[in-house]
Amino acid sequence: MDLGLDGKRALVLSSSRGLGRGIAEALAAEGARVFMTARSEDKLKAAAEAINARGRGQAKFMAADLKTGVTAIHEAAVAALGGIDILVANTGGPPAGTALSVEPDSWTPQFEAMVVPVFRLASLVLPGMQKAGFGRILVVASSGIVQPIPNLVMSNALRSSILGWAKTLSGEVAKDGVTVNMILPGRIETDRTGELDAANAKRAGKTVEQVAEAARAAIPAGRYGDVREFADVACFLASARASYVTGSAIRVDGGAIRSV
Ligand SMILES: NC(=O)c1ccc[n+]([C@@H]2O[C@H](COP(=O)([O-])OP(=O)(O)OC[C@H]3O[C@@H](n4cnc5c(N)ncnc54)[C@H](OP(=O)(O)O)[C@@H]3O)[C@@H](O)[C@H]2O)c1
Repeated sequence: MDLGLDGKRALVLSSSRGLGRGIAEALAAEGARVFMTARSEDKLKAAAEAINARGRGQAKFMAADLKTGVTAIHEAAVAALGGIDILVANTGGPPAGTALSVEPDSWTPQFEAMVVPVFRLASLVLPGMQKAGFGRILVVASSGIVQPIPNLVMSNALRSSILGWAKTLSGEVAKDGVTVNMILPGRIETDRTGELDAANAKRAGKTVEQVAEAARAAIPAGRYGDVREFADVACFLASARASYVTGSAIRVDGGAIRSV
């Protein structure tokens, strides 16, 4: 299948490692030109160089913190690519914690760190997409918005607010050729899953391997997902071929979410 991604211009947030990097690599492998951003300049440089060395697609990057750098990221991406056809709205994850334990004062800063930048960037890229009659906004969220994950209340709650926003927006821009979807990782093996397993092990007084084994046992596929398996689905949703998929939350979870 030709995904129609050749020459498409993608801004991929939080792409120095993990899921964001995987999506940037997969888009570039389909011929897209990607602009990568996160805080670690050295990791971004290495990731972009690896993409450029392959000879298909093209990667540029800028180190910036999403909390403060939204306008600069948008300006740099437009200057580098000439416009943005695809926004992959990925962010760092919030700290673990139960609903009872989270300090009330920590909600606003976390909302500003992982929700507001998504809304802001979308509002910056949308006019160009609507004018062009083509656009893809893909938000990386979590299985927790369907089946809340214990000890991850901030993720469950804040990403659910993005879900309400994305669904509303999708209905407003569908006629302009712009799709807005969410992609929900279950447990895809990255630094983040390692950190969460370590936090859960500490909380339960178990080893990290015991926690990971229990997590694998709860997944019908019997294993964590591979970044490439996740990125391929993201790539399709970002592609021209996914033109009639919008307002959806697509699970990539090996069957982990128990509800239909
Ligand atoms: N992996 C999973 O199975 C899974 C499951 C559910 C939800 N998620 C969520 O999906 C997202 C990506 O997951 P992941 O596993 O790839 O996480 P990860 O391995 O922790 O990577 C997070 C990425 O976000 C960037 N980042 C963090 N804070 C940032 C900031 N303030 N400004 C700019 N960039 C920032 C990091 O780069 P720098 O450190 O260089 O800034 C890195 O590139 C996270 O929100 C995670 O919670 C993942």
